[in-house]
Amino acid sequence: MKPRTILAIETSCDETALAIAGITGRIRPRIRVLANIVSSQAALHAIWGGVVPNLAKREHQKNLVPILLQALQQAKLITQNSSSALHPTLKAILGREPELLTQFQERITPLVKPDIDCIAVTQGPGLEPALWVGVNFARALSYVWGVPLIGINHMEGHIASALLKKTAAGYTCEPVRYPALALLVSGGHTELVLMKKPLLYTIIGETRDDAAGEAFDKVARILNLGYPGGPAISIEAAHPLGRPVSKLPRPMLNSKDFDFSFSGLKTAVLYLVRDLEKQGMNIKKMRPAIAKEFQDAVVDVLVAKTVRAAKQYKVKTVLLGGGVAANTELRTRLSQEIKTHLPRTSLHLPLTTVTGDNALMIAAAAALGSTRASKTAWKTVRPDANMRLGE
Ligand code: KG4
Ligand code: ZN
Repeated sequence: MKPRTILAIETSCDETALAIAGITGRIRPRIRVLANIVSSQAALHAIWGGVVPNLAKREHQKNLVPILLQALQQAKLITQNSSSALHPTLKAILGREPELLTQFQERITPLVKPDIDCIAVTQGPGLEPALWVGVNFARALSYVWGVPLIGINHMEGHIASALLKKTAAGYTCEPVRYPALALLVSGGHTELVLMKKPLLYTIIGETRDDAAGEAFDKVARILNLGYPGGPAISIEAAHPLGRPVSKLPRPMLNSKDFDFSFSGLKTAVLYLVRDLEKQGMNIKKMRPAIAKEFQDAVVDVLVAKTVRAAKQYKVKTVLLGGGVAANTELRTRLSQEIKTHLPRTSLHLPLTTVTGDNALMIAAAAALGSTRASKTAWKTVRPDANMRLGE
């Protein structure tokens, strides 16, 4: 069977990501990666201590065309045309991204339509200005090339990322035993998602304030560890600890529901640092112990609630996804606790190459999804910054 070639685009936050993948099969798709590019804007946003939505939008506008050309080249799908067709509707689609429109007309319209069967784009959740650029770019490509388009939920992408397994020819998506439970932990989200069967999602718990990744980022700022905070905190926590610090709270650890709350924990770190400064302590020396205690507090709550939910819903599979899934402590503790308390439950941890935002997971989610791409979707697909699984 000839593989379907998917072009996937992800611009929900501060990574401009694009992948081209050949997909064979639907239930357990095999994925041959023809191109997989992630251009991170993290260094740029680091100056501001976090992601600035309009800056992200500007960078996506600047990056998308060069990245697409690079990906097409890598995938050997590029052919220049001598005459470039005029597409009057393009102006309407990309009217709010003038820089992207100019680049598109100069460098994309002269290309012969590449051998791509479907375009998948992240529709939400995410930063609205950032999402618009990717969605409008995908709409423009779908319109100009006449290729079907489909909008994908970013969180479904993170779920799919947990299933990607490396093979000699690329990746496969591991089969899931249902019911399954996904712990999704990123900069914008912290959710426990129950899946009674494929593609049927219920959010059974979520954060009431800050997301886990956001808490890592904010605590890193308090400790002067820079942005993004997650990797910086986990590196710091692995250093020799020195003097112990007082225990931080484990917010909502014992609440009956499956919700989370990390904003108070961040404030507790702030007060701890202030107290230590008042006592004349050298914060830099105490940073590893503070980082470790904070990381332990987050991991304790995430793991305990996931295991409790897994037991209550008698799930056969637990999946972990999102940027925070790169955290070694979280991965280790979740594996240990599942092994101890739920030895018959399978656990899927994402490869650390796909925990952060990327377009390969969007291609995988499209491959696993039930909805087909449509040739007229370019007229209707819009970003949904607050898109939720199961609605
Ligand atoms: O999924 P993602 O790349 O973007 C969003 O969709 O938000 O997640 C980014 C988040 C950031 O908050 C970052 O600090 C966090 O993931 N992160 C980590 C680690 N690596 C990235 N948090 C804890 N430990 C890590 N090793
Ligand atoms: Zn994400």
